[in-house]
Amino acid sequence: MTIDPWQTRMTQGWIIPPPTEPRKSRDELRTEREKKVRQLVADGLLRSKKIRSALLTVRREDFIPPRYRDYAYQEVPLPLPGTRATISCPHSYPLFYEPLGLDAGHRFMEIGLGSGYGAAVAREVVGPTGLVVSIEIDPVTYEFGKTNLERAGYNDVLVLLGDGGLGYAEHAPYDRICITAACGEVPAPLLEQLKVGGKLIAPIEEQGVQNLTLLSKGERGMSRLVICEVLYIPLRGRHGQVPPG
Ligand SMILES: C[S@@+](CC[C@H](N)C(=O)[O-])C[C@H]1O[C@@H](n2cnc3c(N)ncnc32)[C@H](O)[C@@H]1O
Repeated sequence: MTIDPWQTRMTQGWIIPPPTEPRKSRDELRTEREKKVRQLVADGLLRSKKIRSALLTVRREDFIPPRYRDYAYQEVPLPLPGTRATISCPHSYPLFYEPLGLDAGHRFMEIGLGSGYGAAVAREVVGPTGLVVSIEIDPVTYEFGKTNLERAGYNDVLVLLGDGGLGYAEHAPYDRICITAACGEVPAPLLEQLKVGGKLIAPIEEQGVQNLTLLSKGERGMSRLVICEVLYIPLRGRHGQVPPG
């Protein structure tokens, strides 16, 4: 028996399914999307109508490299062009956006554009009165995510190439900030750029364990709530776990 190296390849502790020619039709993928959303609701991960509607609207398959497109609704992170970049599992988006309470009109900043899918979902949620800024450090991944967003018609997402740990002060303060890579501690510029009354969510690594943590900024400082254990690629850049190179 021969072993397909792709079936056994692991990057951060998860198994990547083997690349295949895309075969599924639009209709099949739509059916899978609807089924996934029903499952997320049944699992109690998805409660907000706005986030549910966004997950039904955005075609996740359009944000995935063709050879992995047929796995769009499987609970596995999939590789993206660039250095160690992945599109997170489908359940990760409500897992992050529900505790954040992402809603219409919010000014939202994402660190880690990746495929652009998370930014597209956020754009649907915040609507025309909100703002979505997304920053990506890897130039190859940045081009991929930006192209996906433009092709899908999300020309109103502000996408930036750079170190997201520094945030983007030009549009601060933000109501909501989401870091989609694991950090040792939340970069100070992001805390500064968060509005009083705002919330930030991030995988924070403590003693070798990554905890998805919600920070709420009050008049008198930050409060923290650990939500669950997660597994994300490390944050790069000046405030990251991987030094700039
Ligand atoms: C899990 S992926 C993001 C998934 C993405 N939100 C999506 O929907 O596809 C994490 C991303 O963070 C990026 N990243 C890591 N460190 C960064 C930094 N300091 N600034 C901006 N992006 C960073 C990685 O290159 C990678 O694309």
